[in-house]
Amino acid sequence: MTLPIADTGADAGPKTYLSGVQPSGLQHLGNYFGAIRQHIELPAREPAEHFYFIADYHALTTSRDRDELRNRVRETAITYLALGLDPKLATLFRQSDVPEVQEITWLLATTGGLGLLERAVSFKEKVERGLKPNIGLFLYPVLMAADILAYDSTLVPVGADQVQHIEIAQDLAASFNSVYGEVFRRPSALLSKEHSKVPGLDGQKMSKSYGNSLWIFESGKPLAKAIGKIATDSRPPEEAKDPAGLLLFDFLALFLAPSELEDWRERVRRGGVGAPGYGHLKQRLIAAVEERFAPARARRAELLADPAEVDRILEQGARKARARAVATRDRAFRACGLR
Ligand code: TYM
Repeated sequence: MTLPIADTGADAGPKTYLSGVQPSGLQHLGNYFGAIRQHIELPAREPAEHFYFIADYHALTTSRDRDELRNRVRETAITYLALGLDPKLATLFRQSDVPEVQEITWLLATTGGLGLLERAVSFKEKVERGLKPNIGLFLYPVLMAADILAYDSTLVPVGADQVQHIEIAQDLAASFNSVYGEVFRRPSALLSKEHSKVPGLDGQKMSKSYGNSLWIFESGKPLAKAIGKIATDSRPPEEAKDPAGLLLFDFLALFLAPSELEDWRERVRRGGVGAPGYGHLKQRLIAAVEERFAPARARRAELLADPAEVDRILEQGARKARARAVATRDRAFRACGLR
């Protein structure tokens, strides 16, 4: 299993883990290996409080279809449960079931400097890719900071693309605290050691918005079609190649045991008669994905047939999460004179 790298500068008090994923598309292999896998494995290993949520307020910065959003929220909850999140060990909830995060967002916005948001890389990237930005997209990191600070979180397991947002949360907490006293705790990012930046089928970062992602539960023909798209070149199997330069090996590394992975690498490096071609490697990858997620696919099918159970888990999660956020909101209101 992937051990997260040691965090630095974490708050020394009791540990609280928190993270969120947007329901703006189907969860993909980058979300799984970079984040969701940690969200599922950490609670079983680390006796501490764990909060994981579906960031539907954030998704509204790009979503425009209410039915699709509702379905994706449910699908995301089912994804977590099917992959093995234990609701007794971790609180799973919907972001918008805790409206207090919006109040905390406003408080953080009143003490945070504008320059923090102007430097946000993820906003700039989205605009450079042609997304017409709304105000919510610009404010996105403030809401994310409120998500983190509302639950007194100290450790935030995420992929590398979210690290700057967590630094912004640290700065926003520090600004508020410097004016009103110690209200918010200092959070730190927690990254997967090996998979904090999973590539997409085209070799760029895998992303819900780049059209280069592979859904965790993809299977059969659509899976084969997607893996067929992984970029290769026209060199023949016999030609000796450096596996480090092959995108296919970045994918195989997500699934194969180290000894098997090294075996394939060595055969590609050596080349010659009988060396595996790209087609062979893709077949191996397809089989590995099918096998890895087969049990979760079966659980997903069961959960799809039991919507009441999913609702029950989300409602229970919301009650627990909300109690924490209300306490933080009240503390922050008192500190700045609103109560
Ligand atoms: P989102 O929905 O873009 O991604 C969910 C999680 O998956 C990670 N991730 C990746 N990791 C490795 N390789 C990739 N290619 C890859 N793509 C995505 C992300 O880093 C993330 O951990 N802003 C957040 C949601 C959020 C949040 C929060 C997270 C809202 N409030 C508070 C933590 C704490 C987002 O859009 O994630």
